[in-house]
Order: sequence, then C-alpha cells, then structure tokens
Amino acid sequence: MHLHWLAYLLVLALLSMAHADNVRLVHSHDTGIALRSVSECEELSTTFNSGNISSGLSSDTSFVAISPAGSYSTNSDGLQLFLTRPNGKITTKGSINDKVATGATINSTFTFLYGRVTFYFSGPTVPGIVTAAILVGDSHDEIDIEILGGDPKHWQTNIFAPSPHNNGTIYGAFSGVEKYASGTVDDIHAYTIDWSSTRIAWSVDGREVRSLASEDTMKNGARHFPAKPMRIQLGIWDASSPEGTSEWARGPVDWNTAPHKMSAVFQNITVDCPYVRNRNRA
Ligand SMILES: *[C@@H]1O[C@H](CO)[C@@H](O)[C@H](O)[C@H]1NC(C)=O
Ligand SMILES: *[C@@H]1O[C@H](CO)[C@@H](O)[C@H](O)[C@H]1NC(C)=O
Ligand SMILES: *[C@@H]1O[C@H](CO)[C@@H](O)[C@H](O)[C@H]1NC(C)=O
Ligand SMILES: *[C@@H]1O[C@H](CO)[C@@H](O)[C@H](O)[C@H]1NC(C)=O
Repeated sequence: MHLHWLAYLLVLALLSMAHADNVRLVHSHDTGIALRSVSECEELSTTFNSGNISSGLSSDTSFVAISPAGSYSTNSDGLQLFLTRPNGKITTKGSINDKVATGATINSTFTFLYGRVTFYFSGPTVPGIVTAAILVGDSHDEIDIEILGGDPKHWQTNIFAPSPHNNGTIYGAFSGVEKYASGTVDDIHAYTIDWSSTRIAWSVDGREVRSLASEDTMKNGARHFPAKPMRIQLGIWDASSPEGTSEWARGPVDWNTAPHKMSAVFQNITVDCPYVRNRNRA
C-alpha cells in the first residue's frame, strides 16, 4: 500500500513535468523511464518573410544566423542565403582553390526527435557550390539533402551517425544520388525528410525516392541510425577545398565565370510531427 502510494506520486510528478512547455525530454534516473513531451517535435511553418531570424544567439525566434549579418536576407520570396567571392587573388591548383568563400549558415533554435520536414528551396548551378538542408545533432548525427551546382539534374541524400561503438564516421556509406523527374537544382523543389524511429525517407515534389530502415544502417556491427534530437541547418557553401570535397562537388569554383555573389533561396519550411503524441490532436 505504501509502495503503491509512492508510485502514484511519482507518476503524477512525471506527468506534470511532461506537460511543462519547455521540457524536451524528461529522464527519471530512478525508474529509467524517459517521457516524451509535446515540445520534442513542434509543428511549424515559416515563409521567413517576417524576419523570423535572430542575428545573435537569442532563442526567441525559430532560426538563428550563424554567419554574419549581410550573409542572408528575408523578403516576400523567402530567405536568401548568399555566397560572395573571397577578396583578392584566388589561385587554383589541381582541383582546389587557395581561398574558399564563406557562405551563409542558419540554424533552427529548436531541436526535435523524429518528424517530417519539407523544405522548398533552390540553389545556384555553379560547379563547386553546394546548397544544403540538413538535420544535425550535437552528437554529429546528420540527415542531409544537398544540391550540387555542378550536377544540376540530380540531388543527393546522406546520413551520418557516428556510433560510440565504432571508430568514427563512415563517409559515403549511406549516400544516395537521385534524378529529378523534371527541372534542375536552380528550380524550387519540395524536398522532404521523413524521420521516424524505424526509417528515414526522402521525397522530392511529393514523390518518395529513397528510404533507409534502421536495420539498413548496420556497419561493422554497429547501428548508424540517427536517434537523438537534431536541429535544422540551412547553408550554402564553397566546396573548392579540400581535394576530395572539391572533386565530389565538381569544383573548384571558377571565379572567372562564376557570379561574384550568388544565392540559394529557401521559400518556406514546414515541420510536421506525425510520430509524437501531440496534445492538440488528442
Ligand atoms: C514569424 O514572425 C511572425 C511575426 O513576428 C510571428 O507571428 C510568427 O509566429 C513567426 N513564425 C515563426 C515560425 O517563428
Ligand atoms: C548550429 O548547429 C551546429 C551543428 O549542430 C552547432 O555546432 C552549433 O552550436 C549551432 N549553433 C547555434 C547558435 O545554434
Ligand atoms: C576501425 O576502422 C577500420 C577502417 O575503417 C576498420 O577496418 C576497423 O574494423 C575498425 N575497427 C573497429 C573496432 O570498428
Ligand atoms: C511553400 O512554397 C511553395 C512553392 O511556392 C508553395 O506551393 C507552398 O504552398 C508553400 N507552403 C507554405 C507552407 O507556405
């Protein structure tokens, strides 16, 4: 009877913690129970046009710019991420440039564990330039969509999930290259990452093109499936160095022909939460 009463109190305490808005993950070390709260995945839809990006490290908006002011702008077309030619003379040796431009990078200020994210975006068709919409965790897990200016008819998918039981990231093991049904990287397409505890699926323009089940990520006896909270990161970057990266991106950038300022455009982003109990749907 005494034990029953204690258990009842514990359950009440855990339930009230789970309902607090700012709780992301409530761990009870005593019971080993991990409770989910609604904020583990919160639905969101943004067109960026009201300046929903903070320039500092404040967390009162959904996104934060990591790159300097001036590296991005928001207007009725959405969010533009800029990449500008580095100053001074740029020397190309083999497949690398000695100077690499700093492109814009934007993080979400929220993280979530499992959910479905749709990004409407386009990138420049300049060889050596990569536009990325990724989910990234503090443990360096990633679920990626990357479009390469040097391969305008395709887009790429990837995951990284360094396993503590293994000796590092396995590069290239889980990458995929997909062809557009129509259009190229500089057209706005809808790209979706659908991430649940058992499977990741990628879609373009509403058509699923690739999926990876958790068991497909076993390598050297370890699972490499992202299973920790991640944030959204948007970026445009110059892949003109190092050599392997530049070759992958069809770089280096030829600044004799490339525009001195180019941009990727993110029209809007939607986060849906099909895998988490949501009190609005209960
Ligand atoms: C964007 O900003 C507008 C106006 O400040 C606000 O109403 C809206 O909730 C914000 N959206 C997001 C996704 O932060
Ligand atoms: C942005 O995301 C990266 C990658 O996870 C992380 O290392 C960095 O701390 C984040 N910065 C902010 C301000 O959120
Ligand atoms: C560490 O990595 C090497 C090279 O990829 C691999 O051959 C080896 O099996 C790995 N060791 C462990 C313990 O995973
Ligand atoms: C996002 O942009 C696309 C293309 O302009 C549009 O069709 C879609 O309705 C937009 N979605 C949201 C949530 O604004």
